[in-house]
Amino acid sequence: MTDDSNQKLGDLVVFVDTPSATPDAPAAEDATPDAPAAKDAPADETSPTPHPVPLAEAAVNVGDLAVSRGDGIFESIAVIGGRFIALGPHLARLAHSAELLELPAPDLAAFERAARAGVDAHTAEPELLVKLVYSRGIEGDGRASGWVQVLSGANHAEARGRGIRVVTLDRGYRHDIATTSPWLLQGAKTLSYALNKAALREAARRGADDVVFVSSDDVVLEAPTSNVLVRHGDLFRTPRTDLGILAGTTQAAVFDTLDRLGFETAETVLSTAELAAADNIWLLSSGRLVAPVRELDGRAVAVDHELTAKLLDETFGVLAP
Ligand SMILES: Cc1ncc(COP(=O)(O)O)c(C=O)c1O
Repeated sequence: MTDDSNQKLGDLVVFVDTPSATPDAPAAEDATPDAPAAKDAPADETSPTPHPVPLAEAAVNVGDLAVSRGDGIFESIAVIGGRFIALGPHLARLAHSAELLELPAPDLAAFERAARAGVDAHTAEPELLVKLVYSRGIEGDGRASGWVQVLSGANHAEARGRGIRVVTLDRGYRHDIATTSPWLLQGAKTLSYALNKAALREAARRGADDVVFVSSDDVVLEAPTSNVLVRHGDLFRTPRTDLGILAGTTQAAVFDTLDRLGFETAETVLSTAELAAADNIWLLSSGRLVAPVRELDGRAVAVDHELTAKLLDETFGVLAP
């Protein structure tokens, strides 16, 4: 329970004090006509102590645009043995996504305080997942809302050890839409993951575990919750972030390790033919970290268990199963 004792909680939420004066989204046709005008809430002079609430007791207002429109952003951060992985890059990406959605700049220090307080209050686990959520807030209220969830990590042993089966799916966009159609918000980590979840269900129907999205003009993009890493010999490549994909924190960390190990790394444009001809493929993400691909579109792909273990250990201090 949420008493003052040092008793640890399981999965929990910490609400974050958020900035006011949200630039309101352009009035939607079905917006309530008499919604109160945006107003400035009084600025808080002090930093309130974050207060963890058990997940089952944490409530978000049904009028929050995160709930009704998925109009907000998030970050998922791994905490391994109590240590945050790439907290700075995740906070920076939260700020970048906020900019793309024209949300007020999030109070990153408040998010960090809440995240640390949440992890301190959670039962110790080898792996935790911390989700930062930042929403445009209640419609018409003019105040963003934010919260941090601390969740027990899923078991990724099978994905990291045995590997995963993936299928390529057409995202239906050209590779250059981040430039031609920035309102599609590609490259922002928005709360609207219904499409990504639908793609994962399609993968399951096809007997696979995950998806590699490709553009309508045949360029490899990303997975619904991961970046793609492709190896040809000693060259390791990942799709460029100007292709309307998320700049991965895991990918950046893994590239640092590969550079240190003396491999060549590059952010590039990869065709689906190059993907199919790869020596090895991995999906990289904050939860699963490094997952080797063992099957692409029904065809076996070689898994380099030794290198996968090295990347997991040297980058994140995680021992391969
Ligand atoms: C669409 C998408 N691409 C890539 C990633 C990988 O990013 P990261 O390694 O920072 O978790 C994610 C992670 O959530 C994602 O949702």
